[in-house]
Amino acid sequence: MPVSENISAIMEKSSWIRKMFEEGARLKAELGEDAVFDFTLGNPVMEPPDEVRERLKQLVLDPPPGASRYMPNAGLKETRDKVAGHLAQSCGLPFTAEHILMTVGAGGALNVIIKALADPDDEVVIAAPFFAEYMFYASNHQATVKVVQTDERFGLIPEAFEEAIGPKTRIVLLNSPNNPTGAVYPEQALRQVGDIIESKSAQYGRPVYLVMDEPYRKLTYEGVTVPDVFGLVPRSIVATSHSKDLNLPGERIGYIAIGPENEQTAKLAEAMALANRILGFVNAPALFQRLAAGLQDLPCDMAVYTKNRDTLVHGLRDIGYRVESPGGGFYLFPKCPIADDVKFVAELRKHNVLVVPGAGFGRAGYFRIAFCCDNSVCERALPGFREAYESNC
Ligand SMILES: Cc1ncc(COP(=O)(O)O)c(C=O)c1O
Repeated sequence: MPVSENISAIMEKSSWIRKMFEEGARLKAELGEDAVFDFTLGNPVMEPPDEVRERLKQLVLDPPPGASRYMPNAGLKETRDKVAGHLAQSCGLPFTAEHILMTVGAGGALNVIIKALADPDDEVVIAAPFFAEYMFYASNHQATVKVVQTDERFGLIPEAFEEAIGPKTRIVLLNSPNNPTGAVYPEQALRQVGDIIESKSAQYGRPVYLVMDEPYRKLTYEGVTVPDVFGLVPRSIVATSHSKDLNLPGERIGYIAIGPENEQTAKLAEAMALANRILGFVNAPALFQRLAAGLQDLPCDMAVYTKNRDTLVHGLRDIGYRVESPGGGFYLFPKCPIADDVKFVAELRKHNVLVVPGAGFGRAGYFRIAFCCDNSVCERALPGFREAYESNC
């Protein structure tokens, strides 16, 4: 075999999302863009906000000396100062640049965190439905994954963490607002999980960390706020990026924030900076670190997502689908009218509606819609959603 058995096994089970995305590209080439309703990938169609273009222009036309050189592995001090200032302001804790590491997106951030915290065979506990890449991120560092289920409405079940966390558990990794469900975990549930983490850390004499994956933090709908975990759970670390809130997923810019109430924050930061280097990232892209420095307080424009959410939630419920309205993000996770989600997704595909089976996210019987597209795609896909539903009921 020309490649390792390990990567070969991963290639076999490699993400449903990519498979469906590739199927979409093939169908579009065959039938034309307008005939295909592609809800497979969380790749926003919106352009980055004007502020991004303005600031980039400035940085390119008038770069500071040595703008493209290597730098400390944690990132530029001026950017980390700005991120720390933003966090100190929003959650009232004494963040400084020492708590911040700039990373190659949230994906890079999560790999750095796992590399820095987990020994081989340590466990990462995650809650289903989950972002499928977590499985691969954990296996990159020989960590294993333990999955706990959420309730019918995708809320956390604290007792499930009580049962799942054992002597090998190093990380509890949660994602809110959630991909694929849109759930935003409330303060009370996070506090309960935090209390369990605290008591398990004491019981096993080894810290368990709550790692929050929050690239959708600024993408919330009316009346919803995402609780700041730092004040709720002392052993917390946040991984995030500007892939979704500034529509910059291809530029790979994100950061890690180590909660100031952790013990030994300097040691954690030092380990993560080294992990950033030896994973080959070295440092996050320099130009986009400079860009991100000036845009920490920019809110996210939710107009298109709100319209898409309304079109789809109302449209799907009218047809008969059971679907939760999301608190944040740009995903819906409706229940299939039949138990076999892979079969139902194939049925939707006959109507050129491309979605991803729930099995890929750890919950069969559902499917994921990524609605970061033009509203007309949502409107025009509804007849296909109806025909597939009616032919299965
Ligand atoms: C929940 C979640 N975490 C992490 C990522 C990775 O984000 P990034 O592109 O910033 O690496 C994504 C991307 O879709 C995501 O949905």
